[in-house]
Amino acid sequence: MNTPMVIRIGICGLGTVGQGVWKHLSRIRPELEARLGVKLELTRASVRDRRKKRSVTIPAGKLTTDSLAVATDPNIDIVCELIGGTTVARDVTLGALACGKVVVSANKALICKHGAEIFETARRHGGHFLFEASVAGGIPLIKALREGLVANRFPLIYGILNGTCNYILTQMEEQDAPYSAILGEAKQLGYAEADESLDVLGWDTAHKASVLTFLAHGTWVKPEQMIVEGIDRITPGDFKNASALGYGIKLLAVITRDFTTGELSVRVHPTLLPESHVVAKVSGVFNAVSVQGDVAGTTLYIGRGAGQDATASAVISDLVDAVSLLKNDRRAFITARKRPGPARPALACRLAPPEHIRGRYYLRLTVSDEPGVLAKIATALAAQHVSIASVIQSAQEPAGAASLVLTTHQSDERAIGTTLRRLSRLSCVLEKPLLLRIGDFSE
Ligand code: NAP
Ligand code: HSE
Repeated sequence: MNTPMVIRIGICGLGTVGQGVWKHLSRIRPELEARLGVKLELTRASVRDRRKKRSVTIPAGKLTTDSLAVATDPNIDIVCELIGGTTVARDVTLGALACGKVVVSANKALICKHGAEIFETARRHGGHFLFEASVAGGIPLIKALREGLVANRFPLIYGILNGTCNYILTQMEEQDAPYSAILGEAKQLGYAEADESLDVLGWDTAHKASVLTFLAHGTWVKPEQMIVEGIDRITPGDFKNASALGYGIKLLAVITRDFTTGELSVRVHPTLLPESHVVAKVSGVFNAVSVQGDVAGTTLYIGRGAGQDATASAVISDLVDAVSLLKNDRRAFITARKRPGPARPALACRLAPPEHIRGRYYLRLTVSDEPGVLAKIATALAAQHVSIASVIQSAQEPAGAASLVLTTHQSDERAIGTTLRRLSRLSCVLEKPLLLRIGDFSE
């Protein structure tokens, strides 16, 4: 009888995700070994602080603070980079790939910033880079785009990509509480990034949108090239206003591609969705992504977008793929050069200018409650041909102030941007206006 091949795994980072991977892999290892016909060995792990108490028991001899030593250890075949950030994580990833190893990553910030370099390093050295856990937590969305929907082009992909923000928005609406009161809970539950501003200011969603754009359209769009707005200025009152208009509020990534003009647009912003829309009903840590394919039509993916178990599930699915690659592709170094890359070849495309990004808007203004104010606001909108669809006015603190909520008919990003700047300069406008987009998605 042949001795089964031993696959040695190194885990860099044993925080929320790393401990989840260690826990579940230890539990299901016999079953995976039987299915894969190999022996799996959790060989080494790296952390920042070896004395920190952890929920999994790791023999002291397996634990190090030297992540690069794990990444380049000749006895390790697969390296899981679960540190986060773009510094040590980049060294670990490139170091392991340069040794021809398989790297499994959950790190969307790293892929967004250094993806081109990472994929090129993998190609050059015959390594493999797998990243199912980087977008939408436990939903196998990367596989769906790369494999299940390979026959399609994608005019529209949109959805909720950040579990922390969806959890916060859901709790804000249910508890009538400000976002700052809920953020601590999301951190406690292991949903938030080490730097939680990445979540609430929309950057984490932008990183994920960038990864999806690369997979769907073969081109890198960086967050600084997108509209990126977070949830930090939304108040419980906005949920009441939205509800009065028949909407819920979700932080969405929206990726559109016009295959006639070649224009691509990638944006992240809180969005009013009709309460009856399926994505508006997705609550808590769940993500929901709608993918419109030109062949398959629309497919919708819903599942836990963050947290230890959901993310570990995605990492382990990559580990299983990694084992198959190592098992069936012993000549990986030669064949990797011939394998198709992770994304489709970039077709000619350019970013849509703001005047081509059209939509309807929700504007909340705090104004002085005096005669003529509404006329001044209406004049500022009319100057940019922004047409008002509805107005709700209510009294607001301090005395003498009023809250004005306007919705508009179809306009575009250039016109609404100019309007906002004009409104901010009016003396009757007492605070920076809040702008939300209204989502007109059919499915
Ligand atoms: P985390 O809880 O902060 O864990 C990070 C781990 O990395 C900790 O074990 C930390 O060590 C270790 N570490 C930090 N700097 C290090 C260094 N210089 N050398 C060695 N180890 C170092 O983060 P996480 O939530 O598990 O997230 C990990 C990655 O997964 C990130 O890229 C994140 O974006 C991604 N992700 C997270 C989730 C989620 O729900 N949490 C979901 C999807 C993707 P100590 O424990 O000793 O401090
Ligand atoms: N902080 C991220 C989120 C983790 O809340 O979605 C999952 O990528």
